[in-house]
Amino acid sequence: MDKNFYITTPIYYPSAKPHMGHAYSSIIADFFARFKKIDGYNVFFLTGTDEHGLKIQRAAENNKKDTLKFCDEISKTFKDLTKTLNLTNTDFIRTTEKRHKESVQFLWNELKKNDDIYLSKYSGWYSVSDEAFYNDDEIIEDNGIKIAKISKSVVEWVNEESFFFRLSKWENKLLKYYEENPDFIQPESRKNEVISFVKNGLKDLSVSRKSFSWGIKVPGNDNHVIYVWLDALTNYISALNYPNIENELFKNFWPASIHLIGKDILRFHAVYWPAFLLAANIKLPKRVYGHGWILSGEEKMSKSKGNILDPLDIIDIYGLDPLRYYLI
Ligand code: ME8
Ligand code: MG
Repeated sequence: MDKNFYITTPIYYPSAKPHMGHAYSSIIADFFARFKKIDGYNVFFLTGTDEHGLKIQRAAENNKKDTLKFCDEISKTFKDLTKTLNLTNTDFIRTTEKRHKESVQFLWNELKKNDDIYLSKYSGWYSVSDEAFYNDDEIIEDNGIKIAKISKSVVEWVNEESFFFRLSKWENKLLKYYEENPDFIQPESRKNEVISFVKNGLKDLSVSRKSFSWGIKVPGNDNHVIYVWLDALTNYISALNYPNIENELFKNFWPASIHLIGKDILRFHAVYWPAFLLAANIKLPKRVYGHGWILSGEEKMSKSKGNILDPLDIIDIYGLDPLRYYLI
C-alpha cells in the first residue's frame, strides 16, 4: 500500500491581517503533516489564499488599491506567515493563479456537461463577509439590521440573474455517503449538524454573480463570475494539477486524507464540495474535520469583529515553539 497523506488547511481570505485563529488552523495542520512524515508517509500539505469575490473587491476599493495588487500584497503576508510559523507546507496556492483558474473553468464545464448547472434568477439574502447565501429562517434582525443568525454578519438582498447548481439532486446521495462513511465528518457533533441540515432539504445553489467582476469568468458567459466558494474549494484539486488526473500528484494524493477546517465553514466542505465532486465524478475526500474557534471573550476572534490577537506579537514575547506547543 502506498503511504500517501494529503492534508489541507482552508485557503485564507487575504482581506484580513492574520490572527491567532489562522495561526491555530495552520499549526494544527502542520503538526499532523510532520507526524505523518515521521511515520513514513509521503506527505502533501497545502495552504494558500482565497482571493476572489465581492469581499476582496470591496476591501481593495476601501484601500484604494488595484484589486490584484492588493491581493499580491496581502497574500504575501500569509505566505510570510507560513515561514514565521515554521510550517512544512508543500505548496502555497493562490486562486488568482492561472493553474487554478483553468482548473475551476474545467470543473464548471464538467458540471455543465452533466446537466448540473442551469441559468435562472437568485432572489435572497447574501452575506459578503461570509460569502454565503442564507434562507429566511437563518436571518434575524438586530437593531433594525438584518444579520445571519450564526455568524452575526450583515446580509444584503440580492436579486439578479444567476447560474444554479442542482444541489437538490444530490441530497440522497450525500446522506448515503455520510451513512456509509461514518468517519467522513468529524467530530460527531459536526457530523450530526451536517446531516440534519441536509435532511432539512437542499435547495439548488446559486453559483455565479453578475453584479461585480472580481472572479473567474463563467466559461462562455463573460457577464458572470463563478461563485467564490465553487472557485475556492477547487484549490484542493487544482494544486494537484486537476484536470490532469493522470499526473503523479493527483494519482498519489487524491482523494485528500483530510480537509482540516474551522466549524464556520463546515457546510461548504461537507455539503457543497462533496456535491460538486459527485456531480463531476471525482472521488470524495476521506475526511473533513471541523475544529472549534479561538475566542476573544465569548466571541470568535475575527478581523471583521476587530478583536484580534496578532500571532507575531505573541511570538515576539514568548517565541514560536511555546506558541505552537500551547495551541497544539
Ligand atoms: O473561510 N479560531 O477563510 P478565512 C479558529 N477563505 N479558527 C479560525 C478563527 C478562529 N477565531 N477564525 C478563522 C475562509 N478561523 C475561506 C476558506 S477554503 C476553500 C476557503 C479559521 O480566512 C476558519 O475557520 O475566513 C477557517 O478554517 C480558516 O481560519 C480561514 O478562514
Ligand atoms: Mg472567516
